[in-house]
Amino acid sequence: MPILTNPSSRSQYRGVRWASLGPALLGLTMVHLALESSSPEEGSTLETWPDEIVLTFTQEVQPGLSEASLRVGGELTALEMTTASADDTELLFGVPTGLPPGEASVEWTATGLDGHPVSGVVSFTVLPDPTAQPPATVDSADAPPPTSGRPQSRTTGHATDSASSPVQVAVRFASYVFMLGMLGAVGFLVLVAPADAMSDGPSIESIRRTVAKTGVSFGGVFGAALVGRLMAQTALLQDALSSVGTLDVLTSTWGMAWSAQALGALIAVVGLAGMGGRTLLAVVGSVLVAAASPLTGHAAAAGTSASVVDAVHILGAGIWIGGLGSFLIVLAPTGGDWERSRERIALLLPRFARVALWAGPLTVLSGATNAWIHAPPIAEWLSDPYGRLLTAKIILVGGILALGAMHHLKTQPVAAEAGTAGRFVRSGALELLLGLLAVAVTALLVTTAAAR
Ligand code: HEM
Repeated sequence: MPILTNPSSRSQYRGVRWASLGPALLGLTMVHLALESSSPEEGSTLETWPDEIVLTFTQEVQPGLSEASLRVGGELTALEMTTASADDTELLFGVPTGLPPGEASVEWTATGLDGHPVSGVVSFTVLPDPTAQPPATVDSADAPPPTSGRPQSRTTGHATDSASSPVQVAVRFASYVFMLGMLGAVGFLVLVAPADAMSDGPSIESIRRTVAKTGVSFGGVFGAALVGRLMAQTALLQDALSSVGTLDVLTSTWGMAWSAQALGALIAVVGLAGMGGRTLLAVVGSVLVAAASPLTGHAAAAGTSASVVDAVHILGAGIWIGGLGSFLIVLAPTGGDWERSRERIALLLPRFARVALWAGPLTVLSGATNAWIHAPPIAEWLSDPYGRLLTAKIILVGGILALGAMHHLKTQPVAAEAGTAGRFVRSGALELLLGLLAVAVTALLVTTAAAR
């Protein structure tokens, strides 16, 4: 195998092995879907047509969103999928009878749990039947020995990843922004401005009303963005597969995860709309939204531990950056009057800081674990699209952390002083803008094929 005999590939292989240690320790599977083997194998020569074609993948595929066609003598015939293995890593297709001998290729497209449709071709040759006509002159020096039965292939032909569309990235970005905004509103109401934890009655009530309304709006737009994601994913798959409809996508892993998220958003919105007694409902809905989110991205294909880490990452990012969004909304001055903003900063900043002091590190730690799971070895980050995006995200998060530290160390001690409000709102808005850019990079990251 070339990767083990070429010296430079060998060091590359060592890098991959070290980087795989993390995922292995967490009991994770490799993320990137690929064809592991096929029957007939790539480049093989067969005496007769096989009864079936078997494609074995490195990980679970979605049979309903996968297909194969057979090209013989320039004619392309869609193959009927007969069955998928119990763990959905193997797809079996029946072969029509009466096919002529000659060169043939199986053109396949399979969709992994991460949502990336991957396509490839497996080519092989079927020799003429010696009993039906004189033996053909085969150059036996070049031809591989004929095989029959179901040989297991080590070679996999050519495979390519289907690129994601700008529309898909845009709707994913919108869904993340409004999801984090809604989670932030719930987190803010529960952790920063709970009804019973403050002496300042009238002001806290009006703050809570504003945040609850914001959360309801974010939850509603998030629901609409989920419909957009369903449509964009259907369009992407329709480019890669010959026949796929909205219902096929809705019943796929992501379709079910989106439905769970829509239900979670609805529960959270109902809880937020009746804020006061139904905080628990808003929390339950938010946890459902965060728990279902990993099932629509790379984490789904990497196993349960990766999904748990990702759900924690989303909750942390929602409470931290989404919460900052809610904070800035309640600080917006009314009619240019900063006095109310100053009072609110003095009341809320110490409480928000206490929450950010654990939600920020939680987001960074879970993000770093996500990176450990999905990114290529660090030495390859700048030459790999996923690694480059991750580098950009880390730089942006570095800016957020620097502004957060400045607010904590410099603004908080003088929060009650005149003039602080305007400065804090401006630098807080910059922090939020960096957060939005980090989410935009994440939308690209999740639609880019992960190294693992
Ligand atoms: C140093 C800090 C961070 C690192 C290293 C990091 C890294 C990552 C990685 C590797 C992923 C997985 C992407 C994939 O599925 O391929 C991810 C997901 C995500 N991150 Fe971060 N992240 C960090 C901070 C943040 C922050 C501050 C935010 C919010 C502003 C954020 C929002 C998200 C979101 C929304 C997802 C998508 C999760 C999903 O679809 O399930 N991350 N992050």
